[in-house]
Amino acid sequence: MDHKFPSIIAIDGPAASGKTTVGVLLARKLNYLFFDTGIMYRVVTWAALKRLGRVDLEEDVTRLAEQVQIDVQPPSLADGRFSDVLMDGEDVTWQIRTPEVEANVSQVSAYPGVRDAMTAQQRRIGQRGQVVMVGRDIGTVVFPDAELKVYLDACVEERARRRFEELEHRGELADYEKILKAMKKRDKIDSTRAVAPLRPASDAVKICSDGISAEQVVEQILRLAKNASI
Ligand code: CDP
Repeated sequence: MDHKFPSIIAIDGPAASGKTTVGVLLARKLNYLFFDTGIMYRVVTWAALKRLGRVDLEEDVTRLAEQVQIDVQPPSLADGRFSDVLMDGEDVTWQIRTPEVEANVSQVSAYPGVRDAMTAQQRRIGQRGQVVMVGRDIGTVVFPDAELKVYLDACVEERARRRFEELEHRGELADYEKILKAMKKRDKIDSTRAVAPLRPASDAVKICSDGISAEQVVEQILRLAKNASI
């Protein structure tokens, strides 16, 4: 059998399951590129809200997704961001984290044409290898042949609590019950949509992060990666 260190590590899972924290730490340890595909769907959603004023015009939103230039660059400011996110050159790093985007992103990312456009870009980025890519469908659709697939989960109350703390940490007004409700709604849309629904790939390793730290999850994934290469 051909055993080598995984060049593409796919991490999928529901909202606030810790994919970003874990993915960033893991990529740093391996000296891999970290790529968060959720950013792309968020930028398209923000573009639709700004430029169309709505997200329900599927054809127009799809055209936007095909045209908008999304760039992710090293952070230019030390305000808690992992990276700069640019939409046609404009810094939208924090705009894509607003409740407005959160409330609409699942609808936008259920459009097949939007997914096609994003998936094509993600494959181009991932094909270079040495990448930790996180999202909802990386192990199932974008890179079904990824050498290591992780499905990261946590109960919805824990995930809502994490999102609540993130918002509070940024000095924003946060309401736990509202966050919990919005998260349940997003989970439902993400896992029941017709194209690329959120679900673990059949060969994904499932990790539940309830009550364990991000560092512990990273250690588990590193062990899996090493075992895959023995
Ligand atoms: O950070 P959080 O887990 O809350 O969300 P995210 O990863 O930034 O993703 C935001 C939304 O984009 C998700 O709720 C999905 O609707 C969509 N998404 C997707 O459909 N496919 C991906 N590969 C990544 C995100």
